[in-house]
Amino acid sequence: MLSLLLVASLPLFRPLHVNAVNIPRDAGDPLIPSGWTALGCFRCSVDCDNTVNSPGVASDDSGCNVPCTGDTTHNCGGADRVYIAQRDGGVPPSTTITPTSTSTSATPSSTASIKTTVGTWQYKGCFEDFGPRILQHQFTTSKTVEACTANCAASGYGLAGLEFGGECWCDTYLPFGQQFPDSECSMVCGDDPTELCGAGNRLALYQNSVATPPSASLCLSSQPPGTAVVPRNFQNTGIVAVDRSGNNGLQIYGATPVVTLGDTGPEYLLLSHCRNCPFEDVDNFEVSPTEMFVYARAAISLFPRVGESPLFVSFSQFRPYSGYCAFPNPISPTGPFIGFPVLATAGRVDLWSLCTNTTADGRLDVVYSAVADHPNYDLSACTPIYLELVPSYALPNN
Ligand SMILES: *[C@@H]1O[C@H](CO)[C@@H](O)[C@H](O)[C@H]1NC(C)=O
Repeated sequence: MLSLLLVASLPLFRPLHVNAVNIPRDAGDPLIPSGWTALGCFRCSVDCDNTVNSPGVASDDSGCNVPCTGDTTHNCGGADRVYIAQRDGGVPPSTTITPTSTSTSATPSSTASIKTTVGTWQYKGCFEDFGPRILQHQFTTSKTVEACTANCAASGYGLAGLEFGGECWCDTYLPFGQQFPDSECSMVCGDDPTELCGAGNRLALYQNSVATPPSASLCLSSQPPGTAVVPRNFQNTGIVAVDRSGNNGLQIYGATPVVTLGDTGPEYLLLSHCRNCPFEDVDNFEVSPTEMFVYARAAISLFPRVGESPLFVSFSQFRPYSGYCAFPNPISPTGPFIGFPVLATAGRVDLWSLCTNTTADGRLDVVYSAVADHPNYDLSACTPIYLELVPSYALPNN
């Protein structure tokens, strides 16, 4: 029988396998009845459900900040946070619990810290690893930063990531991954109690300063030949047009209908920066692996024609153009190993422009390989751009 008391605003049930810690109590803290010991505020580790199946991650107590409905002078957990107390002398759970790892503690020891330099490797931050893996290649190594980085270097990767106390992930490029405070990468490495190795859903990222950056024309969205790696499908992304000096980021809001052939005919759409156009949908583009879709595959890409806006069509029986790819970002402020991917067509990322379309009320349309003497735009007024594929957490909303 479980002997845990959960004080949560949401029906979340999480973590076990934590060591009791003494937390100073203040007004606002959960009321813990006598006979129970506060374990603290925890973040959901993998997903939230009603079974105890995954170790959670100790979190800052400030996240458990939602007042209890029955006693508003005290708190009852928070968004994505559960406050846990343990009954003194309770019987530990046994077979119903299947943690993904039992060898690591969720509670950082007071002496462990994030190593910022390991040989030629530099720590780059604590990143969320949720949904599709942000680094793709997992290896089994000793649970230390030294062992993982050495393994990634030997396997030809410039990036290494440690997660959940010692999982070792390697890759050549990090396209997405939201950065979080270092304090969230708080799990002690399984094989070295002095260092920290990420946490649940949190990857401590390292970059090898002597590694060669990935090829500028690496198709991140297609499956590398001969590997069992899941292709990266860049789904639910927005598109941001950045001028090629990297200055202005202008959001492409959606695909604007340009031709509709009757009620039952196909609809043709193009990409524009048009706030009030129909089908504005800021983060519903997909590149996977060499085709491009809009609105969760409701429209598929057609062959782009020189000088014209790329077209998408709403009928699935059209054959999608398969020359699209997501390439590393050539102007990433975070360097050649990390950054939002950019959209390539037929191996080029630098053929896109944003042009004022004079036949469409001056709408700003994306144009492929803009030409002089076009009836619908003036080439000298077009801005050469890259099209960045950006996850919703980083969209500028301009
Ligand atoms: C300009 O707008 C028209 C009308 O919406 C559209 O057909 C055309 O594809 C747009 N882009 C260019 C480059 O002409």
